[in-house]
This record gives sequence, structure tokens and C-alpha cells, in this order.
Amino acid sequence: MRRIGEDGEILNLQKTLSNNPDAEGFLSHGPATGGTSLIDRDRVAVWWLPLERVGEADWPSLEALLSAEERTRAERFHFERDRKVYIAAHAACRGLLTYCLAEPADSWRFSVEDHGKPELICPEGGPRFRVNISHTRDFAAAALTQDHDIGIDVEWLQRSAETEGLARRMFAESECRQVVEASDAEKLDIFLGFWTLKEAYVKAIGKGLSQPLDAFSFDLNAASISFRDSSADDPDCWFFERCRPGPEHLMALAVRHPDKTRLTVDTRQAPLDYLLDLARA
Ligand SMILES: CC(C)(COP(=O)(O)OP(=O)(O)OC[C@H]1O[C@@H](n2cnc3c(N)ncnc32)[C@H](O)[C@@H]1OP(=O)(O)O)[C@@H](O)C(=O)NCCC(=O)NCCS
Repeated sequence: MRRIGEDGEILNLQKTLSNNPDAEGFLSHGPATGGTSLIDRDRVAVWWLPLERVGEADWPSLEALLSAEERTRAERFHFERDRKVYIAAHAACRGLLTYCLAEPADSWRFSVEDHGKPELICPEGGPRFRVNISHTRDFAAAALTQDHDIGIDVEWLQRSAETEGLARRMFAESECRQVVEASDAEKLDIFLGFWTLKEAYVKAIGKGLSQPLDAFSFDLNAASISFRDSSADDPDCWFFERCRPGPEHLMALAVRHPDKTRLTVDTRQAPLDYLLDLARA
């Protein structure tokens, strides 16, 4: 399996990829043009966007990438912070789609599935592209692949979560034990490590929080899953990746893939200049 931005390289990830547009990775070769696609069944692209990178003057351009419906939704947020992160996530998502698939950013349409998962509407008979987004305080991310279920989750590390109570109520026993036994310094990291992986998985299967979170559990070091009922799902079909894309955020990705050894994941900071150019085009 080739991974761009492996767990062990997490802290280097920002340095190698975000500060170096020529860093290795299939997205480094520039946006797709003329009917080409950078995404296939074995490729996953992930963009993250920290809000601190976006200047005040950039927001109207990012907002211009959204659909009319998304812009209306953005206007309804009470807090500016929530409005901005919503815009950032949806602009990153549309920008990623356009970068990889070479169609205009406002051309993408979504359906909403039973538990609220938005799915890209793709022309019949063509490849089925799959995308998922996540936003948390000051940070947004989008993940894209072809055919396979995909889910992404980002969380803010400084949030004052009631970790032990939530773990007792929602996590599997082994996960709960690790949270309870962790030192105060590690507790939030471990809790959010499990939380991001769990959310990425429930988002990938599209069930969201209607899926009981104690029906499956993770090994944090291996980033592998197991199911309480072994017939519920196949752990070998799941690829997970965790990273810390910045000092205050954790991110997890879940992809269902029949042969993980073929999977290439290109994870990088969203190219803000590209997004702004797209809005001006
Ligand atoms: C999906 C869910 C896990 C998201 O968790 P979260 O940490 O609060 O939010 P994130 O920022 O990570 O993700 C939000 C994005 O995930 C996507 N999403 C929404 N529901 C989803 C689902 N069931 N599966 C996958 N992705 C989903 C959306 O794009 C959403 O962003 P948007 O609202 O700006 O369009 C949680 O909100 C949930 O379970 N909701 C279920 C709601 C539900 O069952 N509604 C019934 C509708 S009929």
C-alpha cells in the first residue's frame, strides 16, 4: 500500500506536502484537464483547509464556489465561525472535485441519502465518484474516491469533551478502558483518536450516528477495526488512516476497498490559490 502522509510521518506531512506544491503525490502533477480524471478506484484524494490560512478578502471568492442552495444555508448560521467553516468545507469539496475531475465547481449536484449522507450525482453509465466532508472549529476537510464508500472526520483537539462519560456511554468496552486508564495528558488525544475513526467509519457507511458506536472497536496503533458481531462487516475490507494535520486538529479517513494494497492516498493542504483562481475564472 502506498500512502502519502502515513501516520508515522504525520508531523512531517504539513511540511512536506503543504509547503511544497511539488511534493510527491498524484495531485502534484496539476489539475485534470480535458476530460481526464486524477481519481480512479485505487486512488483517494484528501484536502484539508485550516481557516487561519484564509484572509478576510478571500471569503467572498470561496463562497462563490458554492451552489445557490449551499450559499443560502451558509447565510443561516448564527455564528460567523460556523458560517466560515461551512463555506470552507464546501469550497474545498467543490474545488477538489474540479481539480481531480475537470468539471466546473458549480456543476456538482448532490442527492441526500436516508441518514443524511450527501452523494454526488454522476451521469449514468460513467464512473461513480464518492466524496465526504467534515468541519470542526477553524478546520475543514474533503475526501474523494471512485466507487468505494468513503468517510472523513476532523475534530478540534482543544475542545472540552467530557471524555470518560462519553466513552462509557458510547464506546466499546476495550476503547472505554483505554480512555479511562489514560493519563490526564493523553486522555483527550486517545478519546478523539477513537472518536475520529468511529465517525469516519459511520460516515463511510452512510449511517452516521444512527449506527451504535459500541458495535465495533478500533485498535488505535494499527488503525484497524473489529466488529462485535463478526458477520456485521468485514474488517479486512476497511482502510483507515489517521493524522494530525495541524497542532490543534485530528483527522481520520475510512475507505472500504477490496484490496487495500492497491490503494494510494494523497493527503494535502488544499491549494488556496487554486480555489481562489477557480472562483475568479
Ligand atoms: C453524520 C454525522 C456523523 C456528522 O458528524 P459531525 O462530526 O457533526 O459532522 P462532520 O463535520 O464530520 O460532517 C458533516 C458532514 O457530513 C456529511 N454527512 C451528513 N450526514 C452524513 C451521513 N449520514 N453519512 C456521511 N456523511 C454525512 C454532510 O456533508 C455534512 O456536512 P454539511 O452538513 O455541511 O453538508 C452526524 O451529524 C449524524 O449522524 N447525523 C445523522 C443525522 C441523521 O440521521 N439525520 C437523519 C436525516 S433523515
